[in-house]
Order: sequence, then structure tokens, then C-alpha cells
Amino acid sequence: MDSFYDLKQQAREQWQAQHSPIAQSLSRVKHKIAVFSGKGGVGKTTATVNLAVTLAQQGCKVAILDADVHGPAVPKILGAAGKLDVASHRMPGGHNSQANHEGHHHHDDNCCGHDHHHDHDHHHGHGHQEEQFGGDTHNLRFEPIRTPYGVDMVSVDSIWPSRESPVMWRGPFKMRIIRQFLSTINWGELDYLLVDLPPGTGDEVLTVMSSIPGLDGMIVVSTPQDVSTIVCTKAINTAKEMNIPILGVLENMSILCCPHCEKPIKLFGQRSAERLAKMMEVDFLGSIPFMVEVNESSDAGIPVVINHPDSLVAREISKIADYLVSKVANAGKGED
Ligand SMILES: Nc1ncnc2c1ncn2[C@@H]1O[C@H](COP(=O)(O)OP(=O)(O)OP(=O)(O)O)[C@@H](O)[C@H]1O
Ligand SMILES: [Mg+2]
Repeated sequence: MDSFYDLKQQAREQWQAQHSPIAQSLSRVKHKIAVFSGKGGVGKTTATVNLAVTLAQQGCKVAILDADVHGPAVPKILGAAGKLDVASHRMPGGHNSQANHEGHHHHDDNCCGHDHHHDHDHHHGHGHQEEQFGGDTHNLRFEPIRTPYGVDMVSVDSIWPSRESPVMWRGPFKMRIIRQFLSTINWGELDYLLVDLPPGTGDEVLTVMSSIPGLDGMIVVSTPQDVSTIVCTKAINTAKEMNIPILGVLENMSILCCPHCEKPIKLFGQRSAERLAKMMEVDFLGSIPFMVEVNESSDAGIPVVINHPDSLVAREISKIADYLVSKVANAGKGED
């Protein structure tokens, strides 16, 4: 049985979780879903952006947090080059010189002008007071970047001088920047906040899993190849360890429709992502086919569901979106 001390501690943690700047900032966000995978380049960002745009087209209020700190790609696909209005405040990590400074001197937890407070709260991540872009100015709020497709977005690109400038941040600082995005952006009232994660289960992924209160769950994206599905089992097990629900496995680039006869061609043989879902006892969300236009559209800054709304890809993404909508809605109903 819990001791009186334990109960008091739990009550305090609960209170802090409910009143943390992140919890307050996300208080009007109905559903929070993160997209991850074991492996890189499998289509996480493509899936996130197109699911978000599909949901927005259905009338939902949607935003994306691009939590891929080193390789942000959401702004490119959404054709959104805007910057957060942080110019008059100190930037996290400053410009390149400060990023280099951090890289060389290991002062990776002191880039916002704060004291050397080290963040030990990796697992719960609540109760921090320093979640501001410019450490000396409290209660700063920033509007997210509006995009042409009805989806708001925030990315490291939104605060960085140029796409070419390197981002040389270590774990604790990456954790802080993601938490700052969560707490200082005016996310407002949203039906869905989708979080696009970098590959693997490193700092960014753990931060998102531990910092977002009431995270509905994770979508795992995989291609039908053992090199992808094997590392996806690690990703799924990581979420399980962190008590984060897995909403399902989404398979990408499994089939190619012959442009002449429309016959489906299996690009990598068997449907191992579906097997992965079965093996890990999670839902299989569906398959997004390979289509050259997906990449062409993304490169042009127009999501494929906008550019080719009648394509098989757009139709599959729409089915997956419908499935997710009912899944998170029903999960909520089951709660006490
Ligand atoms: N269904 C598809 N058909 C054709 N090209 C695709 C498809 N899905 C993704 N791509 C292309 O594959 C590349 C990788 O996709 P994407 O950037 O979405 O992957 P990712 O998992 O987010 O990568 P990273 O791990 O680097 O974040 C991109 O060039 C994208 O346009
Ligand atoms: Mg990506």
C-alpha cells in the first residue's frame, strides 16, 4: 500500500502536471498524436503532413509540431517559410556561433540565458518554469506559422536563420526547445496536434512522450522490409515502456500501382508491416502506396492530398484519417 508520503508526492506531481506551462498551453487541444518509427526515411513526415491536411479538409482544427530538430521537413512540404516572431528576444542557442559554442564546450543546458539549472526530470518532465524562448522575458507567447492548407505549424526552421545553418544541439537542449515549443506557442483550440518525430527513439522522441500530458498515442510508420520492421519493434516497445498507447502501424511504400494497367506491384515483397502489427498486438492502420507524385508534390511544397486528391494515395490516407479519428474518439469515451 502507498505510504502517506507517497500519496502526498503523487498528489503534488499530479498538481504540477495539470498546472505546468505545457499542460496549460495544450489545455484546449483535444487530441495529441505523435508519429514515429524505428528507421529514417520511411515516410513519417509525408504521412504526418498529409494526415493533418486531410483532417483540416474535413473541417478539423489541426496543427503540426515538427519535433525533428536536426532535419525539419514539415515547412518544406507545407510550403511554409514563415518565422516565429522571436527576433526581438534572445534565441535558444542564438545563431551559429552559439550553436558552435555549445558543440565545443558542452554548455548545452545554458543557451537561453538561464542559470545552470540541469533538468533531471526526463521521465515526467513537469513543473518547469523556464520554458521561454528568451529566458529573461516571462509569459511570452508566439503565434504558430499559418500555412496555405489550413494547418498551423511550428518547426526549428521557424526560428532558425536559414535551412542550411546547422543545428548542433545536444540532448538536454533539444529537450528544452521541444518543451518550449509546446509551452510558449499559442496552440489555441485544436482538434488535433500531430507531432512529427525524427527516426529512432532518442531524445526528441522521449521528450515528446514524457512531456505531452494526455498524449493520445503514437503512430508507427514502417516500410515492408525487415530492416525497418525490426527497429519498429524497438520503437513500439519504447512506447509501451513509457505507457504511451500505440494507435497503430502505418505501412508506407509497400505497393506501386502500374501507371499503365494500375495493377499493384509489391515493391518489397511481403506485407511485413502488417505482420509487425499482428506480432506486437497493435492495430494495422493501412498502407500508403508508392507514387512518384507524392515526392514531386512534397518537393513543390504542396501536400499530395491537395495536389492529387483523387489518387489512390489520397484515398488511402483519408481512410487512415477516418480510422484514427474514430479510434481516439472511442478511446476517450472508454475513460472514467
Ligand atoms: N508513398 C510515397 N511515395 C513516393 N515517395 C514517398 C512516399 N512516402 C515518402 N516518400 C518520399 O520518401 C522520402 C522520405 O519521406 P519522409 O521525409 O516522409 O520520411 P521520414 O520518415 O519523415 O524521414 P526522416 O526519418 O528523415 O524524418 C521523401 O522524399 C518523400 O517524398
Ligand atoms: Mg521526417
